[in-house]
Amino acid sequence: MSKVVICDHPLIQHKLTYIRDVNTKTKDFRQLVDEVATLMAYEITREIPLEGITVQTPVAEAECKMISGRMLGLIPILRAGLGMLDGVLKLLPSAEVGHIGLYRDPETLQPVEYYLKLPTDVTERELIVIDPMLATGGSANACIDSLKRRGCTQIKLMCLIAAPEGIKAVQEAHDDVDIYVAAIDEKLDEHGYIVPGLGDAGDRLYGTK
Ligand code: PRP
Ligand code: URA
Repeated sequence: MSKVVICDHPLIQHKLTYIRDVNTKTKDFRQLVDEVATLMAYEITREIPLEGITVQTPVAEAECKMISGRMLGLIPILRAGLGMLDGVLKLLPSAEVGHIGLYRDPETLQPVEYYLKLPTDVTERELIVIDPMLATGGSANACIDSLKRRGCTQIKLMCLIAAPEGIKAVQEAHDDVDIYVAAIDEKLDEHGYIVPGLGDAGDRLYGTK
């Protein structure tokens, strides 16, 4: 069974409070999502393997560590996932970025794929799927399905807020995908929104309605 990691660092939880607040305006919302994404990237990379390297300091040789040449790929789910992308790239500037366009049909809540452009050598990369909201889990599962159909095997999922229903859905469909979240909320409402959540992540990031 995959693991679910709640990124409960005080800075993340503090910023998430402002992100949830209906009175937080678009510009601040975007900034805060960016900051939390950076902090979560710190958590999600905790287990990246290191290799030894010797460097010469001004004083002596030092036995040091470096991240071994890993191939990483970031896959934001359009459009709200884009709000977290730059924050993650601040810590992982060499990662290649792929994009998947998915929207939830408002009637059926089923995800519809409308765009896909993946990193080079994608099957060899460790991939982080990025989306602020894990609600029914339909979008995340559709994205992961799409990646696996193309031969990807090393996939993590990073979300700001998850509903228990979404976590269950991803775990049932993909028990090899670890899930990183800043919070697990209470439930979904009848429209598939996370309660209490933060509303529509895409609209709040981009000022649309
Ligand atoms: C939101 C969100 C997720 C999806 C989560 O996107 O960013 O992708 O809903 O819901 P699910 O777990 O029930 O699939 P939305 O479909 O609203 O598209 P947008 O990012 O373009 O606004
Ligand atoms: N998508 C969102 O943007 N918000 C939710 O609460 C659920 C899905």
